Amino acid sequence: MDNRRPLIAGNWKMFKTCSEAVETAEHLVKLVSACADVDIMIAPPFTALAQVSEVVKGTCISLGAQNLFWETEGAYTGEISPAMLVSSGCRYVIIGHSERRQYFGETDESVNRKIRSAVSSGLVPVVCVGESEKQRELKETFSVLDKQVKKGLDNFSPGDLNTLVMAYEPIWAIGTGKTASAEQAQEVHEYLRAMIEKKFGNSLAKSMRILYGGSVKPDNIAELMSMADVDGALVGGASLDPLTFSKIVQF
Ligand code: PGA
Repeated sequence: MDNRRPLIAGNWKMFKTCSEAVETAEHLVKLVSACADVDIMIAPPFTALAQVSEVVKGTCISLGAQNLFWETEGAYTGEISPAMLVSSGCRYVIIGHSERRQYFGETDESVNRKIRSAVSSGLVPVVCVGESEKQRELKETFSVLDKQVKKGLDNFSPGDLNTLVMAYEPIWAIGTGKTASAEQAQEVHEYLRAMIEKKFGNSLAKSMRILYGGSVKPDNIAELMSMADVDGALVGGASLDPLTFSKIVQF
């Protein structure tokens, strides 16, 4: 299988009750049933995973979670283990989203532990990296990414990472309506792929899917996807409406 089949992923963040999530998923299934050449993932809140899993079972849509904790089980009030996600029907898990780094103390070290636990449970990690507006202005984009990738992927072998999906999400583009230009996205994606090559070799670098995230909409997806190193999108706001998301899927 070509690992770089496009992946369009929807991160629903803290939106939708169970009934709203089921309704959205049912609508989406009808809209994208014919999408044979794109992988599709939706990540509803934890509370709706099991029900949405029933809706997407046997369709071309896979289920993802927005976070996990690395321990198998134990006295960790409020946390969710990899096995719990697997048993709720998840195939993917988003790790290190900038909102988790910003509001919930997620670090490159916790990202690293989460990736390891996801991989050992057979979940596909979607690992988010990206710089803030200030860091971009200060021309620190590449050094910020260097650190996030180096620490986040520390101590892994290429074989550990062969399902891993990277998501470049410039923080200044998330939820702001300010998308990175296709050229800006390509420049960073190319840089990230080169970094993976240097650290893990050519074969992983060539097969790793790198998604772009940050204000992706039906009217900018095609241009982003036309870039050589953009292999898909991680979509927040525009994934909440099934019709809008289906237009992105059908870029
Ligand atoms: P956005 O969010 O599409 O609403 O900008 C993207 C994300 O946070 O993954």
